[in-house]
Amino acid sequence: MSIYLSPSMLSIDFTKIGEQLAMIEQAGTPYIHLDVMDGVFVPNISFGIPVIKGIRKASGMVFDTHLMIVEPEKYVEEFRKAGADIINFHLEATEDPKKVIDRIRATGAKVGITIKPKTPVEALKPYLAEVDMVLVMTVEPGFGGQKFMEDQIPKIRQLSEWKKELKLGYDIQVDGGITQDNVRIVLDAGANVIVAGSAVFGKNDIGQAAKGFMDIFKE
Ligand code: DX5
Ligand code: ZN
Repeated sequence: MSIYLSPSMLSIDFTKIGEQLAMIEQAGTPYIHLDVMDGVFVPNISFGIPVIKGIRKASGMVFDTHLMIVEPEKYVEEFRKAGADIINFHLEATEDPKKVIDRIRATGAKVGITIKPKTPVEALKPYLAEVDMVLVMTVEPGFGGQKFMEDQIPKIRQLSEWKKELKLGYDIQVDGGITQDNVRIVLDAGANVIVAGSAVFGKNDIGQAAKGFMDIFKE
């Protein structure tokens, strides 16, 4: 399975969005991770539909949209129209995950489902056959630049085992506190889509930081 880097735009310099997106695109990064926060599901507010719509005009990358919002089912069509290619929602944010999955699927976007650190991985099991991606949070969602929670690694391993056992093809994404120094652990556990915010956009040479991750993926 191919391994992808998905740099998180949360850590971008918002006065230089176009320029910095071009840097990671030129470095060969196919994905951009878009963290949408509503101040209710998480204690922070980031950006939403108009921003995604705006950058869609300037970027051919895969828009990997991570919705940290309550009642995601209400907004999936709007995010799709704005340009989201993958729509990831939180299992904890809805009463009816199946309904959200179906709504996302109906828009034509790829479907992702996400769990917070305190949610057991077993909670994902009923939905594994229905999704294209599972996302394991390795920090409490809400902010970039937090410390990686190593105790979440068994979840990645479990999802990787279930994938083989059940002969499924979902991507395993990991998000939170990933750096070039710890990414090897999550790759070895079976993750194949790696989110990194501060470890890419927080660096002086953004293109080089993205390339550094991709070199590790090849090892
Ligand atoms: C946190 C977000 C992450 C965050 C990652 O709620 O979901 O995507 O931007 O940032 P780093 O890589 O700095 O932990
Ligand atoms: Zn995220």
